[in-house]
Amino acid sequence: MSKSPRKFFEPLAIGAPAPYRELPVRVERMIHFVPPHLEKVRAKMRETIPTADVILGNLEDAIPADAKEAARKGFIEMGLANDFGTTGLWTRVNCLNSPWLLDDVTEIVAAIGNKLDVIMLPKVEGPWDIHYLDQLLAQLEARHGVTKPILIHAILETAEGVKNVEDIALASPRMHGMSLGPADLAASRAMKTTRVGGGHPEYKVLADPVAGVSERPVYQQDLWHYTVAKMVDACASAGIKSFYGPFGDIGDLAACEVQFRNAFLLGCAGAWSLHPNQIAIAKKVFSPDPKEVAFARKILEAMPDGSGVAMIDGKMQDDATWKQAKVMVDCARQVAVKDPDYAALYGF
Ligand code: GLV
Ligand code: MG
Repeated sequence: MSKSPRKFFEPLAIGAPAPYRELPVRVERMIHFVPPHLEKVRAKMRETIPTADVILGNLEDAIPADAKEAARKGFIEMGLANDFGTTGLWTRVNCLNSPWLLDDVTEIVAAIGNKLDVIMLPKVEGPWDIHYLDQLLAQLEARHGVTKPILIHAILETAEGVKNVEDIALASPRMHGMSLGPADLAASRAMKTTRVGGGHPEYKVLADPVAGVSERPVYQQDLWHYTVAKMVDACASAGIKSFYGPFGDIGDLAACEVQFRNAFLLGCAGAWSLHPNQIAIAKKVFSPDPKEVAFARKILEAMPDGSGVAMIDGKMQDDATWKQAKVMVDCARQVAVKDPDYAALYGF
């Protein structure tokens, strides 16, 4: 059973802004996590803001229980004190059954509702979690004169959430997108790992034996392939964005880059950064490769109306490759608006 199409885009409270019909176009290659209870982090915010596409004040896991209120207050202070320009301002609130969620949402919307772009909601299990926050946000937007809807981004990090991922993606026009939360998801599924995302040396395939050759090659597999692919389909079909989440081994830049790139190739728009080093990786990975963009532009130029067939550099092009090229060039154009270095690399 679902809401009638006519009701879907009605505000949920009198005086709340009308939901968006299309997501605002924003480049979100990395969602940069900061712990807002730390004074030294807040003091550096003016320098940090222009380095990232999104700044997220984290209130949930990794913030100690005795610092939850300081983190909330610190986030509000940071929101009031800075101009974020084209950088998104998000927060990750505590989960719905925690003692902090209600004050997180009510205090933040009251204080900086007109500056906040997105609330990231952890441990989402089904559309009912989105409906609760959707209604609460509408009431608070109306009360505090918020003029544009605050969007919801769900973390996909429970087995039940993965089972319900399509319904979560479609739960509300307030849905911005979804991120994979590999640490909580691993625990929820009883995966036998102790890591935050990335691969595992024991999750592998052993090549068949070959007579006379003693070494059998081993190929490590991607633990997250199934979930990322499932999330991408749920989000793309609902018109919202998908993201790889955290990569916890801060020192392993190469593995982080590969994990991010797998997500990018499968359709994700970005990933989380937990350290400034990961901002640089996400920028590189989630900005389309200039060589690919140049090739994609050749396809668009060879088939100006998007139909027919053409040969470029020995490769067959048709309506479907034209569409892929358009995805690539549109993504590059959005990146170029935000990032002059990439605008120059793409020649826009
Ligand atoms: C993120 O929140 C995760 O659990 O991986
Ligand atoms: Mg988590």
